Amino acid sequence: MPTIIFLFALLIINNAAASGMLYPRFSETRTIIEINGMWKFRADMSPTRNEGFLKKWYTQPLSQTGDVIPMPVPASYNDITQDRKLRDFIGWVWYETEFFVPVEWQQKRVVLRFDSAHYNTMVWVNSKEVLSHVGGHLPFEVQLNSSLDINGVNRLTVAVNNTLTPSTLPPGTIHYMKDTNRYPAGYFVQDISFDFFNYAGIHRSVKLYTTPIFFIDDITIVTDVKGSDGIVDYSIIGGGSSNDTTIVVEVLDADGIPVATSIKQNGQMIIRNVNLWWPFGMSKKPTAYMYTLKVVLKSSAGRDVYRQPFGVRTVKVTSTQLLINNKPFYCHGVPKHEDSDIRGKGLDYALIAKDFNLLKWLGATCIRTSHYPYAEEIMDQCDQQGIAVIDESPGVGITSVHNFGNASLTHHLEVMNEMVRRDKNRPAVIIWSVANEPLVTVPQAEHYFKSVIMHTKNLDPTRPVTFVAAVGPNGDYATKYVDILCINRYFAWYSDCGHTELIQKQVEYDMNKWREHHNIPIIVTEYGADTVAGLHQSPSFVFTEEYQVEFLSEYHAAFDKMRKKFLVGEMVWNFADFMTKEDITRVVGNRKGLFTRQRQPKMSAHLLKKRYESIMNETISVIH
Ligand SMILES: *[C@@H]1O[C@H](CO)[C@@H](O)[C@H](O)[C@H]1NC(C)=O
Ligand SMILES: *[C@@H]1O[C@H](CO)[C@@H](O)[C@H](O)[C@H]1NC(C)=O
Ligand SMILES: *[C@@H]1O[C@H](CO)[C@@H](O)[C@H](O)[C@H]1NC(C)=O
Ligand SMILES: *[C@@H]1O[C@H](CO)[C@@H](O)[C@H](O)[C@H]1NC(C)=O
Ligand SMILES: *[C@@H]1O[C@H](CO)[C@@H](O)[C@H](O)[C@H]1NC(C)=O
Repeated sequence: MPTIIFLFALLIINNAAASGMLYPRFSETRTIIEINGMWKFRADMSPTRNEGFLKKWYTQPLSQTGDVIPMPVPASYNDITQDRKLRDFIGWVWYETEFFVPVEWQQKRVVLRFDSAHYNTMVWVNSKEVLSHVGGHLPFEVQLNSSLDINGVNRLTVAVNNTLTPSTLPPGTIHYMKDTNRYPAGYFVQDISFDFFNYAGIHRSVKLYTTPIFFIDDITIVTDVKGSDGIVDYSIIGGGSSNDTTIVVEVLDADGIPVATSIKQNGQMIIRNVNLWWPFGMSKKPTAYMYTLKVVLKSSAGRDVYRQPFGVRTVKVTSTQLLINNKPFYCHGVPKHEDSDIRGKGLDYALIAKDFNLLKWLGATCIRTSHYPYAEEIMDQCDQQGIAVIDESPGVGITSVHNFGNASLTHHLEVMNEMVRRDKNRPAVIIWSVANEPLVTVPQAEHYFKSVIMHTKNLDPTRPVTFVAAVGPNGDYATKYVDILCINRYFAWYSDCGHTELIQKQVEYDMNKWREHHNIPIIVTEYGADTVAGLHQSPSFVFTEEYQVEFLSEYHAAFDKMRKKFLVGEMVWNFADFMTKEDITRVVGNRKGLFTRQRQPKMSAHLLKKRYESIMNETISVIH
């Protein structure tokens, strides 16, 4: 298809600040430099943790302020050294690196992007503060302008604080131990009510990228299916201002062949004989088909090109079913953690590839990003490999009425803005989860969760919204607002420990009770038992591999009775063992994984593989 040149006046919203935060992608008009690697690092061990600010460490090379150590970026800093004080550190840590940019970048918009850092981050370039951000797990960026030295070395200083407060997500509290007979003066600990290690640092890549001055700032794509047509509703927002622009929008198929074209900034395109995006396991082929929306924006100020991947699919919820492309989808999968030895939560391509190979081996069709948004590189694999996602916010550990104040709610809404903005175009994301196991049995929970859920539905009316509940079915203030019920259940573990003979009866009673209150489908988003790999006992005993297999099998027998009725998913907790805080109920972390932290299978992984493959065989035969 020839390129269409068509000039017309077009008002593009002039955004002072970038709003779209599109994932940095190479194009003929854009360049990316990753500035990952070994950075310089020091933790502020002063009693107030405030020395770095008092002495303005950002105004000089970090090594001139005191001793520095090498620290990899991206990674959590906690498990890198042999120093327990750093592993368990609470407060500000300081990072520094240097970079150069090519002289050609003078004519460009240069953006510094952090794919994520946990938790509070402040950034200086050449001693000048350029950026700050509150919250882990989501990207933030700034256009550098005159703070950048095009002709020489640029010093990048980053301070990251992992302190959690009642209004952070996840929340936490600093607890001062006042009894000086038992604790040194000023002694404090951080209390958290979530069950994973609070890994901190610069977890994901740090990038510099360029765009033209007049640029494509945001792209939103919503798809529908009518017969054999794919309907693509799109809208594009430009950054910078211009009044003589042209825009050419093309849909490219997986081979790069244009299949639809438009010259409008917002509009609808039709893909004839569309290839739908199906989750792995629903369709033999093609599965997880991805298109590209190629956008070319031209003005007298120059041209910008961006290629946004997307898939064509629909998601609907009826009273008993979760439908993808109007066919029933059964989500059999696992919640995960971004967790590995040494790196903690740091982005690791080898680990990502291994985990997806294990998901495929297992026959999993879905994951939940428990309990925070995962790296965009992981989400890309979900899109491309057809792993459906319950995309969960960092709203975990909301277990106190002190977490329902205005500051908490305002921040939670902002986190939902950032998360939906980042993941809205991903076909793999089929459900938004705003929280995990929050306190919902107090009246304050009603306004809070109604607000967060309604806000998320306004941001994205196309996907079901939920939170993951740990309460019983006998009345709470928040589950009435969800579109699909997600529940975590631990019969014969946290209650009636060891009594696997009670599981079927209790699961059935529980679910039928839920159905009396809510006429919506149910996904069991967690059930599981801690299992130390290699521990065996017969008859089974808690913590042995035999117990995990027996425990899971009892749940499966109960699920099979409800699978054809209203149960639309089962997700065993957890994909792999992961680190937690030190606790007498955790043996070097949470051991409920099907795989060890080193990604080797326990007996249970083989059980689940057999089950998931056999469910998948049924599901495929339904579609074709
Ligand atoms: C650079 O300019 C843009 C556009 O005016 C602004 O949004 C951004 O905050 C500026 N960056 C810095 C570091 O001041
Ligand atoms: C940073 O850490 C210190 C020490 O834990 C804490 O007192 C302070 O409130 C934190 N500041 C921010 C902005 O998180
Ligand atoms: C729009 O066009 C007019 C006339 O050419 C010009 O004076 C003005 O600066 C332009 N505005 C922008 C924002 O480019
Ligand atoms: C919380 O926000 C509401 C609505 O904006 C306001 O009326 C109320 O006074 C605020 N409460 C507090 C404690 O700030
Ligand atoms: C699934 O179907 C394949 C192909 O028909 C078959 O080889 C395999 O044994 C089946 N697996 C299960 C667990 O039923």
